[in-house]
Amino acid sequence: MSGLLAGKRLLVTGVITDASIAFSVAKLAQENGAQVVLTGYGRLSLVERIAKRLPEPAPVIELDVTNAEHLAGLADKVREHVDGLDGVVHSIGFAPQSCLGGGFLDAPWSDVATALQVSTYSYTSLAMASLPLMSPGGAVVGLTFDATKAWPVYDWMGVAKAGLESASRYLALHLGKQGIRSNLVAAGPLRTIAAKSIPGFDQFEDAWTQRAPLGWNLTDQEPAARACLALLSDWFPATTGEIVHVDGGYHAIGA
Ligand SMILES: NC(=O)c1ccc[n+]([C@@H]2O[C@H](COP(=O)([O-])OP(=O)(O)OC[C@H]3O[C@@H](n4cnc5c(N)ncnc54)[C@H](O)[C@@H]3O)[C@@H](O)[C@H]2O)c1
Repeated sequence: MSGLLAGKRLLVTGVITDASIAFSVAKLAQENGAQVVLTGYGRLSLVERIAKRLPEPAPVIELDVTNAEHLAGLADKVREHVDGLDGVVHSIGFAPQSCLGGGFLDAPWSDVATALQVSTYSYTSLAMASLPLMSPGGAVVGLTFDATKAWPVYDWMGVAKAGLESASRYLALHLGKQGIRSNLVAAGPLRTIAAKSIPGFDQFEDAWTQRAPLGWNLTDQEPAARACLALLSDWFPATTGEIVHVDGGYHAIGA
């Protein structure tokens, strides 16, 4: 088998449509020699239908990251398909509507707690649920939206992403001794279900298409997926706790 990820066994979360960043990761990973197991949340039959559009059939395991039983049973379920994992992709985010679109000052703690549990804490809980299957050289990769700044309309999701970026560094710290890396890809705005749920998301779209030095395609998930593959591969063996921007260069310029 040839390709960047030849022989690697990956667990990929977060596929809900074929526009999901996770779908592009799974597709490219298979095209580059990896064996992929997916997890799906909620509408499992939909995820299974989308999975059929991948180059190779991929099994789908149910995983709600807020469900302790799902997390506790994950390693055994994955073992039914592969005998270990070389990489885990966290492509999960959710915030209740009160937390987005300008509601920062009024969002209740119960809603903020949901956003943080699903979008931040789950990075660590997914990694820990997968750890029994991982060995030195393994990699965990997640998706963030540059949390070094306060963005209009992103509100508590921005706080959740800041926490995710920190959680990735702590995971790097705590799993480094086991030879496991943790890195994030900071993607520019992409038209997915998660993005469409943010009222005012078009502000990001306008800003990026007008100002990103390299330009920006709102419907091309492949650049972000390629960076995920690179971080999962053996070509970043000494990189952990890192955030790679795949945003057309937007983060590097002044407004
Ligand atoms: N689309 C963008 O503009 C953009 C930019 C930067 C980062 N990201 C991040 O990329 C990741 C993937 O999002 P996407 O844009 O591909 O959107 P998406 O809607 O396709 O994917 C989000 C996924 O999160 C899953 N999810 C939600 N709640 C869950 C739960 N409780 N348990 C398990 N899974 C759950 C959904 O089922 C879905 O598959 C997210 O972390 C998102 O914040 C997106």
